[in-house]
Parts: sequence; structure tokens; C-alpha cells
Amino acid sequence: MISPSLHSIHPATILPKSYMGFNIYLSNREGEKPIKFISSNQWVNDSDCGMLRGNPVLRVFIDSSSLNSYREYLGSYANQWMSDPDLPCSLKSALLLDCVQAKWRQGAASNDWQYLAGLARDISVPIAEFISVVGMKITDVLQTMDLGVDLTTHSLRTAIYATILGNEIGCDRKTLVEICIGGLLHDIGKRHIGDETDDHYDSEERRLAAHPTIGFRRLCHLTNFPKLSLLMCYQHHETMDGSGTPVQLADDEIHFASRICAIANRFDKLTSNENPRMAYSAGAAGRILEQDRSKRYDPEMMKTWLTLLKSHLKNSSTSTHLIS
Ligand SMILES: [Fe+2]
Ligand SMILES: [Fe+2]
Repeated sequence: MISPSLHSIHPATILPKSYMGFNIYLSNREGEKPIKFISSNQWVNDSDCGMLRGNPVLRVFIDSSSLNSYREYLGSYANQWMSDPDLPCSLKSALLLDCVQAKWRQGAASNDWQYLAGLARDISVPIAEFISVVGMKITDVLQTMDLGVDLTTHSLRTAIYATILGNEIGCDRKTLVEICIGGLLHDIGKRHIGDETDDHYDSEERRLAAHPTIGFRRLCHLTNFPKLSLLMCYQHHETMDGSGTPVQLADDEIHFASRICAIANRFDKLTSNENPRMAYSAGAAGRILEQDRSKRYDPEMMKTWLTLLKSHLKNSSTSTHLIS
């Protein structure tokens, strides 16, 4: 068993002639004790990298305490990697997702809403660009990201799924950035349910159902916060049949970005690890959505999402856990 003090990384993220700043360990097979390959103060040469990339059974590790250094390293080389035509899209996606995940985790707990909105924009600009130019896939998110259900990771995954769907239906870059911002902050009201003292939140269920309104009330005061993103926060639990919350809008009364957000939110709820035994594979989640007769989601958008999901699963090089 690999020690918890080590953290597994993708071998192809190690580039030649780079000063790493962290130790690199190798293990040849599952369970074998990793040995130190390169020390933090050493340089990595071309043949080291060729060996790391060319050995499919090799596992590469760093000290868990070096995770922040590794993320800084990823961030500092992200642009170089993005323009390297030899690297596959899935690897580039992994690099970007690792960077934005770390950035969002560090800042998302802030109570400074103006700062949060600025951070959301900083993260959304490269995500929107990457999705529309390089073509990040749904499967890249599932393979790379932490699938935990905490609000921070759920919001980030929902934002990326929503941006992927927005790109597929032809939204321009500015709109994609705003969709991503809305996804990042769609559940932000959940953090502040306890701050509201209104008597009418008389049950836990109703208090939870109030989060779109609580988020809206706070975000609407921010300077230059996009209207589209604001509506995603307010309307993402409205449903096409008019049975949603908070004000039972229906059909086209619900903003198109909020309809996108509802689908992204639902897909993430199905595939994330709220209860690891109940987490569905992407393929199974797709089948559940396909059979859903609830009429809660925009049918055309759902059709687009399911077609996209199927094509990404078909072209995914990886494991069966995505499909089974
Ligand atoms: Fe929500
Ligand atoms: Fe959500």
C-alpha cells in the first residue's frame, strides 16, 4: 500500500529541463514501495522525461506536503503546455483543471463577495477559452477532478459542465465566461442559510430551498456582476413544468443559462460521490437522464447534453468506470 504521505501525479506533467522544487518518487507496480527518483533540487533531463512518459506501468509520486509546490509548478507552465501540439487534449485538460481546482479551493470560502465574484471571473476566463478552443470533454472532468460533494468542488464541476453545454449550443466566449461564473456561484446561498433569520424558513427543507433567493439577494448588490450569472443563481431550481422553486417559473420564463445550469447541476449530483456506493458512472447517469419523464429539464438542451456525453464516452480512452 502506498503511504498517504505520497500523492500520485500524472507522469506526463513532468517536463524536461525544469527545476521541480519537489521530490519525485517512482513505483513500478501497485503496492511496491516507491523509491526516490529525483530530489527537489535536481533538474530533470530529456531522457528522464522520456522514461517517465514511455512506461505505462510506472506510477509517479510526490510528497503530499509538496502538493502546493506541484500546483504552482503546473500553473507556471500551463501556457507553455497549452500551446504544445504534441500533448493530448485530455492531458491539457488535467493540467488546467488541477490549476483551477487549487485556486478555487483556496478562495471559495471567503466571505468577501466582491472578491469571490472577481475570483470566479479569473477562473472562468481560461475555462471558457479552453473549452471553446481546445475542447475539454465531460470525461476529462470525471477522470481528473475530485468528485467529492462539498460545495466548492460541486460548484466547479457544475460550472465546467454548464460551460461545455453552453459551448455546444453555440454561445459566444463572453457568454461562456458568464455561464461559468454563474455555475461557480449558483449554490453560494447555501453558505449563508444560517445567516438568515426569517421565521418562514420553518423547516430544514424550506431553509435549503431558500438558497437561490439568499444567493440572489447578496450577488445582486455586487458591482458589474453579470445578469446572466445572477439569474443562474436565482433560477437553477426552477423547472420547465413550473413546479420548481423559488417562484415556479416555466418554459421560456426561465433564462436559457439557468436551464443549462439545471442540467449540469443534476448530472453532477448523479455522478459525484455523495454516497460512493450510489454514485453513478457517466454512462449510467446518462441513461437515468434519458429515461427521466419528469419534464423538469429543457428537452432540447437535455438531448444535446446526452448526445455530447455519448460521443465523449465513445472517444474516451479510459476506464470502464465511466461507462458501466
Ligand atoms: Fe442549488
Ligand atoms: Fe448545485
